[in-house]
Amino acid sequence: MRKHTDFIRNQSRKHTEWFSKSLPMIASENIISPLAREMMLSDFQDKYAEGTVGNRYYEGNRYVDNVERRVKKLTRDIFGVNYADVRPLSGTNANQAVLMAFGGPNKKITAPDVSDGAHISSAKFGSVGFRGMEPKTYPFDVDEMNLDIEGTKNLLRKEKPDIALFGRSVFLFPPPLDELKDVFEEVGCNVWYDGAHVLGLIAAGKFQKPMDEGVDILTGSTHKTLPGPQKGVVLANPASEEEKERLSAGVFPGVLSNHHMHSVAALGITLAEQKKFGEEYAEQIVKNAKALGQALYERGIDVLCEHKGFTESHTLAVDVQEHGGGGTLAEALEEANIIANKNLMPWDDVESAKEPSGLRFGSQALTRLGMKEGHMDEVAELIKKVVVDKEDPKSVKRDVEELRKNFQNIHFCFSKGERTYGHTELLKTTE
Ligand SMILES: Cc1ncc(COP(=O)(O)O)c(C=O)c1O
Repeated sequence: MRKHTDFIRNQSRKHTEWFSKSLPMIASENIISPLAREMMLSDFQDKYAEGTVGNRYYEGNRYVDNVERRVKKLTRDIFGVNYADVRPLSGTNANQAVLMAFGGPNKKITAPDVSDGAHISSAKFGSVGFRGMEPKTYPFDVDEMNLDIEGTKNLLRKEKPDIALFGRSVFLFPPPLDELKDVFEEVGCNVWYDGAHVLGLIAAGKFQKPMDEGVDILTGSTHKTLPGPQKGVVLANPASEEEKERLSAGVFPGVLSNHHMHSVAALGITLAEQKKFGEEYAEQIVKNAKALGQALYERGIDVLCEHKGFTESHTLAVDVQEHGGGGTLAEALEEANIIANKNLMPWDDVESAKEPSGLRFGSQALTRLGMKEGHMDEVAELIKKVVVDKEDPKSVKRDVEELRKNFQNIHFCFSKGERTYGHTELLKTTE
């Protein structure tokens, strides 16, 4: 049996080593802080805490209650809402909870299309479909990489949905909520914003203030631009006790039983760090994304929306059709230790998911490692060597490793002794 444990621990160590020499650029990932990581290893992991604070189905939750109460308060304060549920296990799970509370086979929902950058949980073949619903999708303006405002107004008026869902996984620009606000009122729909990707930016008051722009419910993942543990949240300003109870029951017993207290504790640490460092971090994330967009563009790479400064978030969408396609290039970049992903572009259909036109890059993890605008030029040059010049990825990898040597510490968090990236010191094994 020992050989299995050694094998798994060694794989984990190798992963840590690999990533400590790589450029992490997947827009949905980040690096947890040392103090938050400590909570992921705590004994809270062993606990069942079904129910709500002070009203649990099992005993032994004295300290668990203290933690969850504090984390909920931190969440309410940071997002300026009076209702926060920190139990969902992921962004998808948070979305399922909202669908449990307000969706159903006799309900109508409108949402962005998957090929326009929406997440699979909002699709017929994802959580929305699982709840017996088929989304009607908003028309999209490819030049603006945003919703077509008049078309969206018309769709909302025609469909009169119970739920109007916004938010995307290729989320370059805020949806035009202000322009749609009157129609929301006219139609009387529940406005739901999936802020999974931009939750850290929203927490810092950047990108968009959904709760000031007519949104009723905000969900999100806590591990993308918010650099926390893998979890999800449901945030709202419920109009009544009944609505609050529906939201709570949507999470438990709706879509989970136990909610993994170690990650609730880790989220609390992330939020405390967010309070202190979040604004500066969010600003740098967006500056870096824009700088990377410019640097790639200057090197002949077709980054979308040059006329709009490429992005207002952490994400860049890049059309690489002429250079060989997103699937092929994402693999070549991985060979060079540049970790990014292939992505559908609005003109691709879902069948081309294996070799879509696009690549997606995120700046949030590089920023977390201390990179600034000036370093984006170096990153762009390395990407160009693979994508445009077709240099051997193995030789580019050496340059990537050289660059990454200077960026080993995690920034925008409280320090804890000598701990830096990853957890290699915990994983010394016999290999
Ligand atoms: C818009 C959007 N919603 C939800 C999710 C799902 O989040 P999770 O992976 O935490 O379930 C994602 C994931 O990338 C996303 O992009």
